[in-house]
Amino acid sequence: MAGSIVILTGAGVSAESGVDTFRDKHGIWSNSDYREVATPEGFSAKSDLVHTFYNQRREGLAKVVPNAAHVALARLEREHSGEVTLVTQNIDDLHERAGSKNLIHMHGELAKALCSRCGTRHDWRETLSTQVPCPACGKTGGMRPDVVWFGEMPYHMERIYEALRECDLFIAIGTSGNVYPAAQFVQEAGRAGAHTVELNLEPSETVSDFDEVIYGPASRVVPEYVERVLRAK
Ligand code: OAD
Repeated sequence: MAGSIVILTGAGVSAESGVDTFRDKHGIWSNSDYREVATPEGFSAKSDLVHTFYNQRREGLAKVVPNAAHVALARLEREHSGEVTLVTQNIDDLHERAGSKNLIHMHGELAKALCSRCGTRHDWRETLSTQVPCPACGKTGGMRPDVVWFGEMPYHMERIYEALRECDLFIAIGTSGNVYPAAQFVQEAGRAGAHTVELNLEPSETVSDFDEVIYGPASRVVPEYVERVLRAK
């Protein structure tokens, strides 16, 4: 199969690595209120709560490793003759640790901090708090996780839409299709003439927009699908 491929991943691709998803029965949003921990208003009201929420998740990165799905997607990028763009909604670092290079973190990264005072981004593995000064401007009170919250614009949208308009194959993996704009990427790719495929544990909210759907755990269905794409070239 020739041409350009765009892949969109969600929490389901990291589930078998031990990273919690959001909307499953015991998912993150069953324990935490997204309005408190994932909105700019929530951060203004309860900064300590929000820092604790993301500090715990950042610490969790050291306890997880990429699974077969992450590894297969890195292999696809290496071995496919055309362009492969991997867009992830995940803020973990498992795709890059598996070897993916052309990777866009549209919802930001747990391992980065952003100073809202001076706009500088920093690689960040330590605990964040309102007391931590920005290493660039030295001011305290402005450091926040470099993640996109509800009500904020996801990152790199121009680059993503350009890739979607040019792609021949669009694959959505492990995402429930609840959050926009990511949930409408399948329509954008479909309009551009791409073949669209959903790989998920169960039908997503946008299942009817896909040309092809395959259900099963990502660690099995993603390597199988990658093998199919590479053999078809
Ligand atoms: P969700 O938790 O909404 O959906 C995860 C999807 O993965 C579900 O459809 C599950 O059925 C599926 N899934 C679970 N385990 C799987 C497995 N082993 N293999 C394959 N699929 C599996 O997570 P997202 O769609 O990523 O944004 O959520 C999108 C955004 O909503 C997140 O980026 C986050 C959240 O609120 C922000 O915080 C801004």
